Amino acid sequence: MRICDLFCFSTSSLFLLLILSLTDISSAYIPQCKCIRFNSTDGGRFHSPDFPNQIEHIDCLFFHFEAPPGHIVQIIFDSFSLPPRNGICSSSLRIYDHTVDGLIEPTDRADYEFCAREITMGRAFYSKREHLLLQILHANAVSKGFNGEYRFLPKVNFTSDAIEIAECTYRVEKAKGKLFSSLYPYHYPSNVNCTYVLPHQRGHQIVITSSFLNLGSDAILEVYEMNDGKHLLHTATSASKTFYTSCASSVLIYFKAGLNDVEKASGFVLDFQYEDGIWSRPGGYDDSKPECLLDVNSTDLKTGSISSNDLGRGSSLPTKCRISLIGYPNERISIQFTKFNLYVPENKNIEKRCIDVDHITVDVRVDARLSRIDEWCGANTPPQIMSSSNLLQIEYTTKSSRAIRESSPDEIGFAFDYKFHTDWNMDHMQAKVDANRG
Ligand SMILES: *[C@@H]1O[C@H](CO)[C@@H](O)[C@H](O)[C@H]1NC(C)=O
Ligand SMILES: *[C@@H]1O[C@H](CO)[C@@H](O)[C@H](O)[C@H]1NC(C)=O
Ligand SMILES: *[C@@H]1O[C@H](CO)[C@@H](O)[C@H](O)[C@H]1NC(C)=O
Ligand SMILES: *[C@@H]1O[C@H](CO)[C@@H](O)[C@H](O)[C@H]1NC(C)=O
Repeated sequence: MRICDLFCFSTSSLFLLLILSLTDISSAYIPQCKCIRFNSTDGGRFHSPDFPNQIEHIDCLFFHFEAPPGHIVQIIFDSFSLPPRNGICSSSLRIYDHTVDGLIEPTDRADYEFCAREITMGRAFYSKREHLLLQILHANAVSKGFNGEYRFLPKVNFTSDAIEIAECTYRVEKAKGKLFSSLYPYHYPSNVNCTYVLPHQRGHQIVITSSFLNLGSDAILEVYEMNDGKHLLHTATSASKTFYTSCASSVLIYFKAGLNDVEKASGFVLDFQYEDGIWSRPGGYDDSKPECLLDVNSTDLKTGSISSNDLGRGSSLPTKCRISLIGYPNERISIQFTKFNLYVPENKNIEKRCIDVDHITVDVRVDARLSRIDEWCGANTPPQIMSSSNLLQIEYTTKSSRAIRESSPDEIGFAFDYKFHTDWNMDHMQAKVDANRG
């Protein structure tokens, strides 16, 4: 016997359901389950019977969310409170998220079972196909119940901008787009092994950033540069919260995952873009590889300080050190110099340009390019700088030798404080420089 096809009312018949739920018809071996269908194409709200009044004793009630063809179901909880778990979850909400046709067998195991306050506010669930079922089983204890919102999302919105050339092997042929993990926003299947190829285009650089990242503990996302062989550019794991990489040759992305049946991690959304030329830099830029790199991300600390003493010391001259401050996609970065005195030889005039002496440059990512804010040298302390995106890069180029700097009567070097902000607390900041100079 298949349940959930016996009584299915549309949401407008809610009152009828309440009458029915007062009638005890659960004498059969399998409880008679009532079912409410949610199929309004505009989406809407759902809630436990009689919400916000308390609920008690519901033998079995189904909510059936039915998306139009080519869509999936998204439900987001605003509140959730059922009786506590006493060893077992005797009053529970069960979620069936991968039924093919909206029907389940009495022996089917739910994909999730929750009681107490186990669903936090704002938590979203997605169906694999067009159907999602909630089953409410409530014993005699009373509880507040739950409420939330449902929407139907077109599947095309989660289709990678790439051609599938073999099973889970994609080739990008667009200049700009998105790559989604398999089945996103539903959790990716266990043991997937997918490849994304981004072929090189002459005179272009490929920039890849994450707009969403949630990898399971067995999963790994690797980016390789294909250039006289294969070089690993970047690795993301379950600890990674953001992802950013760029490359001037072909790129190969591998996504390898182990089991995901329990963790149900939802994977990734990557944005890619082929950008004209190598980073557009103001004239005179010397693209030699920096000899020391310092990456600061906002995973742990939202504020901190960095000084030139923290940087590794290159052996040759000139030396270039690069500090990258990388925030979450919704974060902005501000920096404030607390010390700034770079070495200038006595015979050099730095009024017009800094390029011949020790200097600092600051670049910010604007879309997929790095855009130079300015360069500073001598004792001309940069103003407070606020980025317009989540990546700010500071380069310290030294033309002087370390011995000269250390023997200088003045203390040479710099220090700055940084802070990662989310969009909403930007308003309080007094930014003196807008990085958006194109
Ligand atoms: C929703 O389901 C009802 C039957 O319960 C049906 O009459 C109605 O046409 C459906 N609406 C949509 C938008 O599919
Ligand atoms: C789907 O994508 C289109 C185009 O990007 C967008 O306009 C639309 O809002 C998206 N729909 C949903 C439900 O997110
Ligand atoms: C993943 O797929 C690639 C190419 O299809 C293959 O070379 C590799 O061995 C596979 N890795 C695993 C772990 O299955
Ligand atoms: C952020 O930095 C920490 C510590 O340096 C590192 O373990 C982590 O992987 C970094 N996360 C990302 C997204 O780069």
